[in-house]
Amino acid sequence: TWETARGAEIIAEHSKMEGATLPIMHALQETFGHVPEEAIPMIASALNLSRAEVYGVFTFYHDFRAKPAGRHVLKLCRAEACQAAGGDALAARAEAKLGISIGNTTADERVTLEPIYCLGLCATAPSAMLDGRLVGRLDEARIDALVSEAQR
Ligand code: FES
Repeated sequence: TWETARGAEIIAEHSKMEGATLPIMHALQETFGHVPEEAIPMIASALNLSRAEVYGVFTFYHDFRAKPAGRHVLKLCRAEACQAAGGDALAARAEAKLGISIGNTTADERVTLEPIYCLGLCATAPSAMLDGRLVGRLDEARIDALVSEAQR
């Protein structure tokens, strides 16, 4: 497919760089909105790495997604300060409202729910980000409002 062809070009463009795995994945995600699964073995062979090593990098960085995101992306902070401020219950609430677990996209492809690990808003934890907009001081009412906004 043209996707594979474009992917191969992107990999070739970056493959001479030191530590090319990350820049390649960023470039793929920028181009396709996700890192296509078939890119993993392509990166491995271009960089002389094992598939497991490349896949390890992919899963370590939570910013990379394996599938295209929904129309809206709601990221919930899952790091310590937000957890201590009640983030777990709010995350569970968002999951229940959307009917998906974190890391997934609703069936109507409207909302992708993703974890993020600290938004630098710990002072106003718990925090989230909807389509790049930061929101702090979340409580049940505010998480409900964010979820409805994302579903529109
Ligand atoms: Fe959530 Fe820092 S831990 S914003």
